[in-house]
Amino acid sequence: MKGIVLAGGLGTRLKPLTKITNKHLLPIYNKPMIYYPIQMLVDAGIEDIMIVTGGNHAGEFLRLLGNGHEFGLKRLHYTYQEGEGGIAEALGLTEEFADGDRVVVVLGDNILEHGIRRGVEAFRKQERGARIFLKEVEHPWEYGIAEIEEGRIRRIREKPKDSPSRLAVIGVYMYPPDVYEIVRGLKPSARGELEITDVNNAYLERGELEYEIVSGWWLDAG
Ligand code: DAU
Repeated sequence: MKGIVLAGGLGTRLKPLTKITNKHLLPIYNKPMIYYPIQMLVDAGIEDIMIVTGGNHAGEFLRLLGNGHEFGLKRLHYTYQEGEGGIAEALGLTEEFADGDRVVVVLGDNILEHGIRRGVEAFRKQERGARIFLKEVEHPWEYGIAEIEEGRIRRIREKPKDSPSRLAVIGVYMYPPDVYEIVRGLKPSARGELEITDVNNAYLERGELEYEIVSGWWLDAG
C-alpha cells in the first residue's frame, strides 16, 4: 500500500498568504499544514509516500521535509504538477510511483482528529473497489456531497447548490490500482479540472465504492 499527499494547486483563495509560499506550508497550530497528512499516513503504517506539489514554491517542500527523517521515514518521493488541473490530475501523476499497488490518497489540507489508521485497516481487508469517508458539514455547497438512500450512496455531487444531504466526502480516498485507468478516461469539468468526484462516481457506478462515516472532527484547512 502506498501513500500520496496532494499538495499541488495554487492556493489562490488564500491570497495574499500564498503569494510568497505554498498553502500547505502555512502553519496550523505549531506545525506546517503538510505535516498533518504525512503524519496520518505514517501513523497508519504507510511509509512509502509521494508528495505531489506545484506552483512557484515547490522547492520549499524539499527544504522543509527532505527525506522525511523527522517522520521516521527512509525517504520521501516528490513529483510536480504544472498548473492546477484538478485533484484527479494530480493523482494521475503518481501512477509510476504506485507501480500496481493500492493507494491511500490524502489532500494536503485535510486533518482528522483520529487520523486514518482504522480506515486503512478496513481498506486492507476490503477485497475490491475504492473506499471513501464521509462527515456531516454545515455548508454542503463547499464540498463533494454524498446522497445516501437505504444505506447506499446514490450519487456524489461536487459543490451542489441544492443538496438534501449534508454528508461531505472528505479528502481521504483509497483506491485499487485501476484508478489510473479511470483518471485517464476523465474529461475536465465546467471549472476546467479533472474531478476526484468523477473518479468516485465511476466506482459507484460499478458497485465498487465502500464508505464509512468518520468519528471525531475533520478539518479542510484550505
Ligand atoms: O476537503 C474535501 C473536499 O476537497 C472534497 O469534499 C471535494 O469533493 C474536493 O473536490 C475538494 O474540494 P476543495 O475545493 O477543498 O479542493 P481544493 O481545490 O481546495 O484542493 C484540495 C487539495 O487538493 C489542495 O490542498 C491540494 C490538492 N490539489 C488541488 C488541485 C485543484 C492538487 O494537488 N492539485 C490541484 O490541481
